[in-house]
Order: sequence, then structure tokens, then C-alpha cells
Amino acid sequence: MEKKLRELLENAKTEIDLADSMDILESTRVKYLGKKGELTQILRGMGSLSPEERPVVGKVANEVRETIQVLIENAKAAIRDRALERQLESEVIDITMPGKEIELGNKHPLTQSFDELKNIFIGMGFKIAEGPEVETVYYNFDALNAPANHPSRDMSDTFYINDDIVLRTQTSPVQVRAMEKMKPPIRIISPGRCFRNDTPDATHSPMFHQLEGLVIDKGITLGDLKGTLEVFVKAFLGENTKIKFRPHYFPFTEPSAEVDASCFKCGGVGCNFCKGSGWIELLGAGMVHPNVLRNGGIDPEEYGGFAFGMGIDRLTMLKYGIDDIRLFFENDMRFLKQF
Ligand code: DAH
Repeated sequence: MEKKLRELLENAKTEIDLADSMDILESTRVKYLGKKGELTQILRGMGSLSPEERPVVGKVANEVRETIQVLIENAKAAIRDRALERQLESEVIDITMPGKEIELGNKHPLTQSFDELKNIFIGMGFKIAEGPEVETVYYNFDALNAPANHPSRDMSDTFYINDDIVLRTQTSPVQVRAMEKMKPPIRIISPGRCFRNDTPDATHSPMFHQLEGLVIDKGITLGDLKGTLEVFVKAFLGENTKIKFRPHYFPFTEPSAEVDASCFKCGGVGCNFCKGSGWIELLGAGMVHPNVLRNGGIDPEEYGGFAFGMGIDRLTMLKYGIDDIRLFFENDMRFLKQF
């Protein structure tokens, strides 16, 4: 019996060596080790052995079973390895091939300006307020104390949706909207789009951007306005920047001023940039008119305030030396990528 077992092992070895697929190995396993396999067959004859022979043959039988099992497992592993190797070979990746560059975009220069301005004013305790771009004539003109015959109301200057509704020509209407919604002290800025019936050229666009500012509290003075604008201008244009107030007229502020900053290119000496004057026109500002306070539901006897408004397109053009406002809105990547 022992001899039979050894023969069986030899036969199995030869078959396993020749097997070149998982299927063949599996049927080899069944053939030798399965319930009806050859090993079981031989072991059936154990009954006829003497009690001394039985353990000896049993031991050999176990060795033979284990050996065949190990050989089959190894052969299966080898086939799996070979298959994986073949797959890897057929799926080689050329790691020397240059990858596809992922292009990170950048923020539009106007968005960058707005971000910077918001940061500066938020740092001074301002909150951001927003108002609609499609605005009523009331908020855009009447509530802001604009006289009935003010030229800016003209159809040739303002886009009318109908008699009562316009595309806002300024961010100032947010002043009255904010007063209606909030209780003093109020400290807001309002960035956004404005629209005027202008023919596009290098310095005009029918759609442009402003940033409005409004502060309302008890005892606010022109000194507060100056101080606030000074902090802002130094942060935005540089520590050495000076500002200058020129008397001006706006319906919604009294007194009103236009504010200039010393030229940030030449420091105020005079250069091409500031057209030799040393100053750059920056924004409009003033003390909030009592009528506007009243329209916002605020008692001018108790509260006062200041407001300012600036054009962001022009400021951004100055900052980067851009000579045509239309470039902002043409979405030409060659332009936008430079910022
Ligand atoms: N809204 C004005 C304009 O579009 C700018 C302005 C001037 C805003 C004076 C203000 C201000 O808040 O106080 O020309």
C-alpha cells in the first residue's frame, strides 16, 4: 500500500508539473484528493492492514496528501503570478510622458480689488450690505435727496426699466435701504455693479463697479470721515499716501467733497500717471444730508453720519496701469492671466 501511495504521489507530481491552468490544477486536486479521489480509494483498503502497519501507512498517506496539497497551492500561486505579470506587462504606463498640467485660474482683477477693500473695511468694523441692481427710482434718486430735475435722472444717463424702476446708477441707494433695516450705530460698505447709459470707450463702460460706505452714529464729525478715509487709503495705496478734500456737490451729503490721494507712482511730485498734478481723484464723500437720514427713518437731531463712494474700475486701472476699462469685461484670457 505504501508503494501505491508513493506511485500516486509521483503521478500527481507529474500532472501538477504539466498543468498550465487553474482548471487543470483543480481537476487534478479532485482526482487525487477529492472524496472519490485516488487517495481515498487507496485508504479504503486500510481495513485489511495489520494493526502495526496501519499507523505507518496512515502517516505516509497524510504526508502524501499534504505534499500534493502544497504542490497544487504553489502551482496555483505561480499561475496567478504569471497572469499578473502578463497583465502588468500589457498595461505598462510610460512614466516619462509629460502629465497634463492642471491650470489654476486666478481671480479677476476687480474681484481682487473688492477682496482687498472688503478686508480693509471689515478690519475697521464695517459690515457688508447689499442692495438690488434693479432699483426703484425712489431709492436711486428720491430717497437720496436728488432734486426732481437732477440731470442724472435723464433717460440719456440712466437705464429705465419703466417710470419707477431703473438699473441703479450708483451704490448709494443701499444707504437708505441699510438705514431702514438697521439701527444705529451703522457701519457698512456696499460693493456692487452700477449702470449708466454711457457709450463704451477707454474710460467709460455702461456697467461698472462702486463701493459705497456709510457710518451713522451719535456725534459723527467730518474728522471721523477724514480719519477713516486716511486709514483706508494708507492700507490700500501705501503708508505714505496723503489725502486732500476738495469741496463738491452731491445731493445726499452736506457738506460734500471729492477726495484725492497723493499719486502712488510719484509720491506727489507729479508724473505721467497723475498728469503732473501729484494727485489722483479717488472718491466722493460727505456728511449724510438730514433729509436722507429722515428718509431712512433716522432722526437727524439725534444722529449724524458720513458716506463715501468710489469707482472700483478706475481705481483698479490706476493700480495696475490698465489703460482701457473695456479690458475688464472682454474675458480675454491673455489679459486676465496677468493678474
Ligand atoms: N454716488 C456718487 C457717484 O456715483 C458717489 C458718492 C459721492 C457716494 C459722495 C457717496 C458720497 O456716498 O457721500 O458719483
